Amino acid sequence: MKNRDTRHGFATRQIHSGEGPDPATGAHNPPIYLTSTYAFQSLEEKAAILAGDKEGYVYTREGNPTTAMIEKKVADLEGAEAAVAGASGMSVIAAALYAFLKSGDHIVAADDVYTWANIWLKEEAPQYQIGVTRVDAADLDAVRAAIRPETKVLYAELLSNPSIKVADIPALAEIARDAGILFIVDNTFTSPYLFRPLEHGAHLSIHSATKYISGHGDALAGVISGSADLIEKVRHQIQVLGSPISPFNSWLLLRGIKTLDMRMERHCNSAMQIAEFLSRQPDVTRVNYAGLPSHPGHDVAKRLLNGRYGGMLSFSLAGDEQAGNRFAGALELCDHAVSLGDVSTLVWPHRDELVRVSVGCENAEDIVADFEQALERSGTSR
Ligand SMILES: Cc1ncc(COP(=O)(O)O)c(C=O)c1O
Repeated sequence: MKNRDTRHGFATRQIHSGEGPDPATGAHNPPIYLTSTYAFQSLEEKAAILAGDKEGYVYTREGNPTTAMIEKKVADLEGAEAAVAGASGMSVIAAALYAFLKSGDHIVAADDVYTWANIWLKEEAPQYQIGVTRVDAADLDAVRAAIRPETKVLYAELLSNPSIKVADIPALAEIARDAGILFIVDNTFTSPYLFRPLEHGAHLSIHSATKYISGHGDALAGVISGSADLIEKVRHQIQVLGSPISPFNSWLLLRGIKTLDMRMERHCNSAMQIAEFLSRQPDVTRVNYAGLPSHPGHDVAKRLLNGRYGGMLSFSLAGDEQAGNRFAGALELCDHAVSLGDVSTLVWPHRDELVRVSVGCENAEDIVADFEQALERSGTSR
């Protein structure tokens, strides 16, 4: 394969890193190696591969050439030594937590994190006698106070799901470093285009690659990046848990990620316009978007994200608990659905009246027009 190293710019690397024309056939696009197993050419080759003296594959749960390409690409974009992909974002979150927390250990986790990460903390951790303390990750004193001698991991999202709270990742990394514990950041909402946690002192950066990395809502996938030795431990857990990514999904990620920077620019620009529109609506009681100067985390987000604030926002509607559902049900263009990071705008009434929006890549004025008619039709606009 050609030498496509890491000195190029982000756009070049999202296209070329980790892949190149197939040396066997010259195929310009990466092949999908849909194989579960690999045949050895000789006993010598088998011995060398099994001993780790020669690069090669044994079984796709342990590694696959198409998957290796997306792992190398994401590692490069995250500024990491290594990355490992899994069947979903949750598969790599679970693998990482199982890899670094054992019975008697303790984790300090942000109070607002993705639903199933929350479920892991509430339901799985106690089953393994792992202590959990939840804190507002924006309150650095609370984070410091929560750390105990048996704490092994600090876990947070830069922009939290769904409240869009902002965590000061470099400050949290310093706390983790002083305490000698691992700092794991879920970087799904920002993508490596907007933020690279490892550059700010985190040890591991997690993506639900189902979201912005794929970008097209077609593949479930997760990728985690970090140092080679930490990633090896997570890879081991992915094998134990039996949650590797399918080579076909790896290929979908390879295709989707090539336009990440352009999609993120559009997501950010449109989200700002939609947040400003929502802020002017009489029945919208609160807009959570880190790009709005009124957001309590705006200054931190501005410092960390270089003036761009991502494509995710949430807002609260006046009225009864069904107001969010009525609004989502009245949308004509945007889809009423879970998930995020898709080129299509997805709207999800998260809890009570809090509506989460993953702003897509449609024309911003069309999204605004749809929101305007939905507010009117659902009786939540005066
Ligand atoms: C911030 C965040 N992390 C992790 C996940 C889990 O990803 P997956 O659905 O790919 O398992 C999600 C899913 O919505 C998410 O929003």
